[in-house]
Amino acid sequence: MEILEKLRIRPLEWVEDDPEGPRLRWLDTRLLPWEEVYRETRDYRRVAEAIKAMEIRGAPAIGVAAAYGLALAAFYSGAREPGALWRVLQEAEKLLASTRPTAYNLFWALRRVMNRARASLEKGEDVDGIIRTVIDEAKKIHIEDIRTNMELGRIGAKLIDDGDTILTHCNAGALATAGYGTAEGIMRAAVEEGKRIRVIATETRPLLQGARLTVWELMKEGIEVRLITDNMVGYVMYRGLVDKVIVGADRITADGYVANKIGTYMIAALAYRHRIPFYVAAPSSTFDLSIEGDNIPIEERDPDEVRTVLGKVLITVKDVEVYNPAFDITPPELVTAIVTEKGIITPPYRENIARVLRGG
Ligand code: MRU
Repeated sequence: MEILEKLRIRPLEWVEDDPEGPRLRWLDTRLLPWEEVYRETRDYRRVAEAIKAMEIRGAPAIGVAAAYGLALAAFYSGAREPGALWRVLQEAEKLLASTRPTAYNLFWALRRVMNRARASLEKGEDVDGIIRTVIDEAKKIHIEDIRTNMELGRIGAKLIDDGDTILTHCNAGALATAGYGTAEGIMRAAVEEGKRIRVIATETRPLLQGARLTVWELMKEGIEVRLITDNMVGYVMYRGLVDKVIVGADRITADGYVANKIGTYMIAALAYRHRIPFYVAAPSSTFDLSIEGDNIPIEERDPDEVRTVLGKVLITVKDVEVYNPAFDITPPELVTAIVTEKGIITPPYRENIARVLRGG
């Protein structure tokens, strides 16, 4: 896993050189930027808990963690025959799939590992063989995510001009993936090419992924970043301070509707108003080609996330009614282009998504 050595930030790690058996290690993103705390487990149920509690977050990182959840379930199943192992895997898949409904990479990664396990079972492999298959597939998904993001970054960097100021929302960086990032991957690649860029990060209420995570990782890498509150976007655009917007995605439909962190739609509408290019960066594993339009399941989270700042300070009347959708949907007409590891997709999206993802 040489590619891992190239990463400055490693949010997820599969630790294998342990006589007591493998374990998953991750950076608890809830505590950043104040504390850099790594957690670990050998129990897939704990992985599910970490995804649900957003210790691990960001669509690609969730997918990689879920794949390793299945790897842990297989390794520690105690099953003596393949049928029993398969039942444990199914149970683990169900729990892991119930953690967060919007991020498509979660379902994509679970399906990919389960398909490999089923093929291995149908080939008549024994318990050890199936366990090896599951672990290898999870490791492949992990490494592929890094490679994919690097390629996506390289392709997306062509859209960036020297001197650009790029506005981003939430965190689609190293901390949301296996370690390179999608939207922030494009910024990293542009800087690696020698372009000078400046980033404007929105704070991203209610969980402050922009203020806590994007700012932390960009400053760590020496990329110039300025923080604004979410309600400053219109003003900075009006003043001409933004050249391009780049955001990540949690799920993209076959016809180009984009689910991403709540607030993304508002930014896209403002970018359209100010004729600022609005780019979405996402690997092919974020595309859900089985749906069209705005039929994407949107996660609703605990009202206390809105009533408080990070559960610490109550900012309203204790029992006020709250609506807390974690994501919104940006319609394709507001999206200038979608950057993937297979190429840049421009409208008309229905035809071009299918063509580019097929490799055409
Ligand atoms: O709720 P989160 O923090 O998991 O939401 C993350 C986002 O919305 C990201 O923009 C998206 O997952 C893309 S990450 C490369």
